Amino acid sequence: MNDLDQLLQQAQTEFAAAATPADLENAKARFIGKSGRVTELMKGLAALPIEEKKTRGAEINVLKTGIEAALTARRQALADAELAIQLKAEALDVTLPGRARGTGGLHPITRAMERIEAIFGSMGFDVADGPEIENDWFNFTALNTPEDHPARSMHDTFYIEGGHVLRTHTSPMQIRYAVQHVKKHKHLIDAGKAMPEIRVIAPGRTYRVDSDATHSPMFHQVEGLWVGENVSFKDLKSVYVNFMHQFFETTDMDIRFRPSYFPFTEPSAEIDMMFGSGPLKGRWLEVSGSGQVHPQVIRNMGLDPERYIGFAFGSGIDRLAMLRYGVNDLRLFFDGDLRFLTQFK
Ligand code: DAH
Repeated sequence: MNDLDQLLQQAQTEFAAAATPADLENAKARFIGKSGRVTELMKGLAALPIEEKKTRGAEINVLKTGIEAALTARRQALADAELAIQLKAEALDVTLPGRARGTGGLHPITRAMERIEAIFGSMGFDVADGPEIENDWFNFTALNTPEDHPARSMHDTFYIEGGHVLRTHTSPMQIRYAVQHVKKHKHLIDAGKAMPEIRVIAPGRTYRVDSDATHSPMFHQVEGLWVGENVSFKDLKSVYVNFMHQFFETTDMDIRFRPSYFPFTEPSAEIDMMFGSGPLKGRWLEVSGSGQVHPQVIRNMGLDPERYIGFAFGSGIDRLAMLRYGVNDLRLFFDGDLRFLTQFK
């Protein structure tokens, strides 16, 4: 092996040993850089006789080409290796399990409301919605509870500026809905003809200054109203009993109408229920107020109490939901604790 072959081999070895592009460029400089070994050989040609210069010059050129080829190959190999590392680092493992999005669920109160709406809807009741900020007329006076009426003290009312209140019950919806209904059918009423019956429920939020395990300052009620010419207490009873059976998906219960007092009904009754089995078996539980709509309230709806008779009820939705889902503290509904809420998914 002559000195040039040895030099080529040496260059190949050093290039192969270069682990980075910078190492490789340093190795290149040692051979074909400005003062590299090959460059020095070229310079040495000047001292040779003409014939020898030719052959030696050609041999050195071959060497140089060989070194350059080795350099190019090594540069490519290093670039390929670097790309491979980068690709590996950026690789996506499509077989990894995805990050799942949690699925939400309806709040138990919402679910109870939807049940109530579906059940009364199936019995021909419309569903109405109304304002939570009420005025004195709808919340009290129109419901036969004028100022200084002792019944006003039954409600621990949130008063707000401008004479408004946060509605203490859903009963104001009786007046709001009936007035609209009467307006809509005014032509019939004026002509002395029968107006279509009012059959409506109004679920929603209500407010009172009250807070413990069974009372929350914001709670939910559903109001029911049925007004017509031939409605009677037995209709209210049958509708409500049917509702209870469907809501709790059982007929294994007793339901009683216990005489009571509300300013907007006469006579009035408290509706109590008692399960025939289960952990609450044998205990009377109050679920609703009810009664025959007071003649003054019928008048405030724009109707003649001599012709029209109405029945109404107002039930606590939170209470119904607690009984249905076996929840013993009302506050759980409003804490927003996922450990509780996810049980209803
Ligand atoms: N509004 C009453 C309350 O919150 C409940 C009630 C009683 C509503 C009798 C009615 C009714 O419609 O007829 O205590």
